[in-house]
Amino acid sequence: LCRGEREKEKTLAIIKPDGILGNYSDKIKNIITGYGFSITREMRIQLDEDAVRSFYAEHSSKSFFLSLVKYMTSGPILVMILEKDNAVADWRKLIGPTDAEKAKVTHPQSIRAMCGFNMERNCVHGSDSTQSASREISFFFDVQDTRHDEL
Ligand code: TYD
Ligand code: MG
Repeated sequence: LCRGEREKEKTLAIIKPDGILGNYSDKIKNIITGYGFSITREMRIQLDEDAVRSFYAEHSSKSFFLSLVKYMTSGPILVMILEKDNAVADWRKLIGPTDAEKAKVTHPQSIRAMCGFNMERNCVHGSDSTQSASREISFFFDVQDTRHDEL
């Protein structure tokens, strides 16, 4: 880093299959940059079952796990690293609550309210802590040093 420059906080954002299918990518990216995040890496991929099982390992014993795996493998996703001060908490705030159906009532301005459908199909992902963010970022990206990467 140049002298006086600070590392900004990073978080992992994913536009899930229903977000891609509904053509929400550009709209969501405009919201992201409009709120002062930089999108420093992005990658469009389709995950296989093993990848989703591993990414969501903390939920492997939950009743919704199989359905979640099926949904997350159903189509391409867009994975992004977002950077700004307080990126983790600010991105979670912007996406809104997990249940997109409830979000439409309680958080109508949130991204999940805008493009999600229900508890499972909620359109976007956001890391829930800085620890999760670094695990999730290295899950998808080579993270030695992303400072000089270009999109
Ligand atoms: P979780 O980490 O609890 O939510 P968030 O994405 O807000 O961090 O759950 C991970 C994903 O699992 C969630 O985005 C959608 C899915 N899910 C269900 O399908 N059913 C559920 O009851 C829950 C809690 C989550
Ligand atoms: Mg979570």
